[in-house]
Amino acid sequence: MSEEKHVLVTGGTGMLKGVVRYFVEQGNTVSVVARNKEKLQSLSFAFRNLPGTVHPIAIDYTQTDDFIRRISQSISHFGPFFVSVNWIHSTAPHTPAALLQLQAHTSPGSRYVQLYGSAFANPERKDDDRNTYIKECPHIHYQEIILGFMIEASFSRWLTNREICEGVINALLASSSERKIIGTVSPWSLRP
Ligand SMILES: NC(=O)c1ccc[n+]([C@@H]2O[C@H](COP(=O)([O-])OP(=O)(O)OC[C@H]3O[C@@H](n4cnc5c(N)ncnc54)[C@H](OP(=O)(O)O)[C@@H]3O)[C@@H](O)[C@H]2O)c1
Repeated sequence: MSEEKHVLVTGGTGMLKGVVRYFVEQGNTVSVVARNKEKLQSLSFAFRNLPGTVHPIAIDYTQTDDFIRRISQSISHFGPFFVSVNWIHSTAPHTPAALLQLQAHTSPGSRYVQLYGSAFANPERKDDDRNTYIKECPHIHYQEIILGFMIEASFSRWLTNREICEGVINALLASSSERKIIGTVSPWSLRP
């Protein structure tokens, strides 16, 4: 039996449900962030017979201070994170840095995984300031995962939720935390 550990999945009631399931199957306590309470409750209910538990956190991550306060409370209750997987839209530009800093402070040695949509790989995109705040957290294994697209015989398409979750889990199982692309982002002109 695996040792129970605390995991965070931000945005865990959507496409990352399979990632939440994976961690609950391993016997972990999984704090899951989303706004919709009913969806959070149905996730807890769906996984109730698995070895671990879902700890729902109904909060809007665009409210960075409130979000950080609630995440701190979950760490006080369930212990430091050993990994966090975060799908945070660009509507919350300050939240990833604040969460990373909290995690560095409370959970040194843990892994922080930030998911990005394919637009992150747009060759014309200007880089942001994230390298500055990542460097300030040297005791965190920081990893970026870019959600790309799939090229099939005569067309391209977006990833399925299953492909996204399998890609995230494979990245977590890899010893290296270097940047990973699920699917592809090239040639960029074939983006669906
Ligand atoms: N490259 C690709 O192929 C690609 C990339 C991205 C997405 N997709 C697809 O597009 C679909 C829709 O994407 P999506 O971005 O809506 O992702 P999603 O994972 O389906 O839903 C977003 C998740 O984040 C939560 N969330 C959103 N805003 C929030 C906020 N302000 N505060 C707290 N939690 C928040 C949502 O719950 P609440 O709404 O309850 O807050 C939900 O759990 C996905 O299911 C996926 O299949 C594909």
